[in-house]
Amino acid sequence: MTDERAQLVGEGYDAIGERFDEWREQIVGDPRERWFEELASRLYDGARVLDLGCGSGLAETQRLALRFNVTGVDVSASQVRRARANVPAARFVHADFTSLELPPATFEAVCSFYAFNHVPRDLLPTVFERVHGWLRPGGYFLVSLGTEDTPEWTGEWLGTTMFFSGYPPETNRRLLDEAGFTRVLDEVVTFQEPEGEVTFQWVLAQT
Ligand SMILES: C[S@@+](CC[C@H](N)C(=O)[O-])C[C@H]1O[C@@H](n2cnc3c(N)ncnc32)[C@H](O)[C@@H]1O
Repeated sequence: MTDERAQLVGEGYDAIGERFDEWREQIVGDPRERWFEELASRLYDGARVLDLGCGSGLAETQRLALRFNVTGVDVSASQVRRARANVPAARFVHADFTSLELPPATFEAVCSFYAFNHVPRDLLPTVFERVHGWLRPGGYFLVSLGTEDTPEWTGEWLGTTMFFSGYPPETNRRLLDEAGFTRVLDEVVTFQEPEGEVTFQWVLAQT
């Protein structure tokens, strides 16, 4: 079942369409490539990777699919449609990953680039536990997390209605640890989006 807040996010990205990819290209100092390498360098060719909130697939999903066996998940129907066309080598699921049921111990890695700041923070403990359960022993979780103390925020963003939520870094750390993860790398990074400065917490964790 799709959480109503995730449904709002999905409809928002349906409405934005290609505009999101154009907006992302204007970001300055995004450390995503460095974090992609931190994950990819630890995985063997053919490893099973789950990409949560994959969007149109044009960012990391496409690169991941060059070496790995990739499954992308997104709650936006139009982004999933675009991802299937952009990355034929990967498989895609149209779903809310906060309630997605997957078999346990299936993936060598789960990654998520800029999707968890859309997850209602009350769901983070359960979602971290689920991700932990989907991973093989020793599997990796790479995630960028919001850093603001934001219980729920709904408002205008990129010309549509969007939902954001998050905890400060110390709470994110505690929740990841409580879900059973060992944090391998953990960094708070500030950079420039077109509208101004933003700060995300990047964590590479292991089961
Ligand atoms: C900021 S975009 C990032 C897309 C891509 N990962 C990238 O970095 O370009 C966030 C994506 O996460 C998806 N998303 C957010 N919450 C989700 C949820 N609960 N389940 C599935 N997808 C979700 C959105 O639909 C959107 O496509």
